[in-house]
Amino acid sequence: MKYEIAWIKGDGIGPEISEAALKVLEAIEKGFNVSFDVKFYLAGDDCLNITGKALPEETVEGIRRAHATIKGPVGETAADVIVKLRQMFDLYANIRPAKNYPGLNAIKDIDLIIVRENTEGLYKGFEYEFDGKAIGIRVITERASRRIAREAAKLALQRKKKVTIVHKANVLRKTCGLFRRVARDELSKYPEIEVNEMYVDAASMALIRNPESFDIILTTNMFGDILSDEAAQVAGGLGMAASGNIGEDMALFEPVHGSAPDIAGKGIANPYSMILSLKMMFEWLANRHNDKELLNVSKILESKIVEALKKGIKTPDLGGSYRTIDIGSRLYDLILGSG
Ligand code: NAI
Ligand code: MG
Repeated sequence: MKYEIAWIKGDGIGPEISEAALKVLEAIEKGFNVSFDVKFYLAGDDCLNITGKALPEETVEGIRRAHATIKGPVGETAADVIVKLRQMFDLYANIRPAKNYPGLNAIKDIDLIIVRENTEGLYKGFEYEFDGKAIGIRVITERASRRIAREAAKLALQRKKKVTIVHKANVLRKTCGLFRRVARDELSKYPEIEVNEMYVDAASMALIRNPESFDIILTTNMFGDILSDEAAQVAGGLGMAASGNIGEDMALFEPVHGSAPDIAGKGIANPYSMILSLKMMFEWLANRHNDKELLNVSKILESKIVEALKKGIKTPDLGGSYRTIDIGSRLYDLILGSG
């Protein structure tokens, strides 16, 4: 089957890490019996400057039509692009693995997945300003809390069967209170899963002190956003962090990080975040379409990434001296067995 992929390169380092990831995709199409029809769409700050819109209708339609979407980071228009897309397509589960691969300068051993509610909370965007006051409304619904808890359970069953619900229900009694109650209720349907909970401040400390104690972290939108950058750093750096925004029958994959304007255009950005997003996309497509070859490809790609890291094929943020595009070229050779 030929998969149609909507590809948004984004802003800042987005186009650079996209080029490297496209090189990897080229090797995969050459080396395996899988094929992709990549269609490029614009979104983000540069797109706003060119077209007057941060998220043009053509891009929205392209995403709707594609089997899956992969997106580089965008800049200051993130709220108009990614936060909007998550709500527009009801991509309610943000799946963010943090795992320390060999050869990285990880703070501690870590192998967990943050399962972040992706459509509501404070990121709903209900903010108002008047008379010297600014007010934000935090929306937490039973429906969204239940379905994200179910997603956490699904992943937990494939792993160590352990879920930590992260909240702040001692202070945010209604919103976090509801999330905690509904999550507990949903998870109680899976007696084989060990469920515990932690306040978000304590969890942020525990992520550094004993990250190995976590398997699945189930949390609300903003807490998940913040904790996933922290978890990524524990694992060796934001440049390694990939994510999936998953809905009922659509999914969008992207690095966890932003457009990194401080290093954009220098050719030194770490593209593994984008390449690992590609790997997550293969996995999702494979499971959805029962495509054994593609599932195999996702496993091989991960093993090639590990091999590359062990060989020291790393960008400066990881202590290496490779340039962004060279990571793509070296992986290309490794995948086709000539590296
Ligand atoms: P950032 O994630 O872009 O950068 C934080 C730090 O990590 C910087 O020092 C950067 O150089 C470094 N970094 C990030 N990715 C890297 C990579 N692949 N390789 C090497 N180093 C990397 O966060 P920041 O600076 O807060 O945000 C920059 C812009 O990105 C903002 O305009 C923000 O709105 C946007 N953003 C977009 C997101 C998205 O499209 N999903 C997510 C987060 C931020
Ligand atoms: Mg973030």
